[in-house]
Amino acid sequence: MFGFGSMIQKLKKDPKTIVFTEGSDPRILEAASRLLAGTFLKPILLGNPQEIRDAAEEAGYNINGATIIDPVNYDRFDEMVELFCELRKSKGVTPEQAKSILSGANYFGTMLVKMGVADALLGGATYSTADTVRPALQLIKTKPGNSVVSSCFILVRPSATGDNEVIAMADCAININPTEDELVEIAGETAECAKVFGIDPKVAFLSYSTFGSGKGEDVDKMRNAANKAREKYPELPIDGEMQFDAAVSPRVAKTKCPGSPVAGHANTFIFPDINAGNIGYKVAQRMGNFDAYGPILLGLNASINDLSRGCNAIEVYSMAIITAALA
Ligand SMILES: CC(C)(COP(=O)(O)OP(=O)(O)OC[C@H]1O[C@@H](n2cnc3c(N)ncnc32)[C@H](O)[C@@H]1OP(=O)(O)O)[C@@H](O)C(=O)NCCC(=O)NCCS
Repeated sequence: MFGFGSMIQKLKKDPKTIVFTEGSDPRILEAASRLLAGTFLKPILLGNPQEIRDAAEEAGYNINGATIIDPVNYDRFDEMVELFCELRKSKGVTPEQAKSILSGANYFGTMLVKMGVADALLGGATYSTADTVRPALQLIKTKPGNSVVSSCFILVRPSATGDNEVIAMADCAININPTEDELVEIAGETAECAKVFGIDPKVAFLSYSTFGSGKGEDVDKMRNAANKAREKYPELPIDGEMQFDAAVSPRVAKTKCPGSPVAGHANTFIFPDINAGNIGYKVAQRMGNFDAYGPILLGLNASINDLSRGCNAIEVYSMAIITAALA
């Protein structure tokens, strides 16, 4: 696992509370027991307390010190229902409907963040991305100044010398076909997130075309987005549209786009749509031996993240640290 040292140091000084929506899942229990042993993060496990304790005991995980909250027996439930109705009043949600929606741990957990009971949330070990993210989009909303919630992956290729290769890719998980302006926002948010992981961002807007070698609406979209992003973030090296080989290979960059401040050395990659992004990060992960951390949600008013349903306990542990450190 790559250096979480600085994030853990930060959390030790200011421990955060993180809610896990799938409290009885063995992967969550293992991660929670490790987090509790580290004493820098306070887990809240959602579910039936007896079921959670039995599952932990059966699997041999010590979860003493974790807070367990049962959504069907929560002493602040009426207050939660009232706030939920207020937040969703434009949709005409009735208290009865709210009670039913809040019986789902994904909505209930998100409301705990909204109410300030938890600083952050990690879910999705069993829920789909859409089911984990939708409550956050509806209740937590975008940060002031942002128009969309998006996501990035941080990819780390461990090196025996300790000089790990760390790159960022976006948006591989949320926005299906972002507009030019959304791509600009995604690039700015991803560059900020990349810095947290020690990346000095060099941002490439990717395409099947390099500097006009190909034609089409998709090419125009990436070129225009790159130009707008350069204007909006003059302090960042940004370039595009460019192909992936031009973005990462100094030799190809020399031929296809000499003089670019980014080409050949890009480390922050903005994909045209979710098809390209999702396939791209998985190619890096499965064939390029990169460890993938994410999707890390960007532009949201609180730190809430989604796990892959295929995740293991180590991934839950890592994502919990990232999610809490970004809170
Ligand atoms: C994120 C996602 C689930 C939202 O879909 P959805 O719930 O059907 O979206 P809707 O259009 O019904 O919007 C639901 C709410 O979220 C808001 N919303 C949707 N997308 C948003 C975004 N990117 N940023 C901010 N808010 C967003 C809407 O404004 C709406 O708010 P409201 O209910 O207060 O009016 C959808 O974009 C999606 O499925 N993305 C791909 C997820 C995926 O499969 N990823 C691959 C695996 S990692």
